[in-house]
Amino acid sequence: MDRKKTVLISGGAGYIGSHTSVELIEAGYDVVIVDNFSNSEKGAVEGVVKITGREVPFELVDTCDKDALRRIFEKYEFDSVIHFAAYKAVGESMEDPLKYYSNNLVSFLNIVALMKEFKRPNILFSSSATVYGEADELPVTEETPRQPATSPYGNTKQMAEDILRDCCRSYVDIYGIALRYFNPIGAHPSAMIGELPRGIPNNLVPFVTQTAAGIRECLSVFGNDYDTPDGTCLRDYIDVVDLAKAHLAAVNRMVSDKMDGKYEIFNVGTGNPVSVLELLTTFEDVNNLKLPYKIVDRRPGDVTAVWADTAKANEVLGWKAERTLGETLKSAWEWEKRVRGL
Ligand code: UFG
Repeated sequence: MDRKKTVLISGGAGYIGSHTSVELIEAGYDVVIVDNFSNSEKGAVEGVVKITGREVPFELVDTCDKDALRRIFEKYEFDSVIHFAAYKAVGESMEDPLKYYSNNLVSFLNIVALMKEFKRPNILFSSSATVYGEADELPVTEETPRQPATSPYGNTKQMAEDILRDCCRSYVDIYGIALRYFNPIGAHPSAMIGELPRGIPNNLVPFVTQTAAGIRECLSVFGNDYDTPDGTCLRDYIDVVDLAKAHLAAVNRMVSDKMDGKYEIFNVGTGNPVSVLELLTTFEDVNNLKLPYKIVDRRPGDVTAVWADTAKANEVLGWKAERTLGETLKSAWEWEKRVRGL
């Protein structure tokens, strides 16, 4: 394995991790997937293998276990790490903050410490638009001030960004890029991999597809009295394959030594605000079905609107979201149907 062309992917069996693994492999990288299946399935790794037609080294390791992780650093030569492994449910993080602080921060610290020890220079970190909170200006650029986090989950993203910035500043051998994801949705066009939430989904699109599949009776739209054109919240829904390609562009930038300084941040979104009702209508139109829904109270903690200014990613990474909302929502439904055997 060429170490410049090899990438360690923590959380590579997860939703975004599996799609990113596919894009990297198809672009000629070797990937090593590390995952403990705490919120993912073996089937995702099998999906990556099927789509790419390549064997993918897989290691069942919890990134919070530093000794186990050290053995991975000893076993494989790689210059770059993409660190996805983390818990991601906002509500759960409010109920059990320690679970989030210990898992998300310990795993991140272990990765960076081992990178320093083994002189593995490049890390791509999964950050989130959650760092912007209820922003004063829209769309948000990378310079838009972060707001104090409203959940322990969001706080782990802010803290990890800061830790990464400091490590890049202080350690000559560490280079970092934080990608701030907006709302990732959809599935691979092959329908071999996609989002597979356990239990009742928190996020909109999995709830929509499960309702369409008859697993949930009715979708609840959380509030229609926001200060937006149709009263429902505005988000920037980014196709997961487009998002995976942004990771590829960022890894390419790191391994070809093109970074501007040692730490960079990019928004990864489409730049288009979409309301909850618009999303539902588009889902119904492209998939030719009707979705039972009702308007209910606002969900505590939801911001009214957030969408990305994507100019920096477009210009500097040479990356742009390509799939339309309709294509993406079609892929989400194809995936749900495949999972449910419909
Ligand atoms: N929504 C519904 N009904 C549902 C689920 C969601 O109406 O059953 C609405 C929400 O109120 C919101 C929109 O759909 O307006 C999107 O909600 P999601 O839960 O899909 O996504 P969020 O924007 O709340 O969450 C995303 C990421 C989090 C991140 C958060 C903060 O999934 O990781 O953004 O910006 F923390």
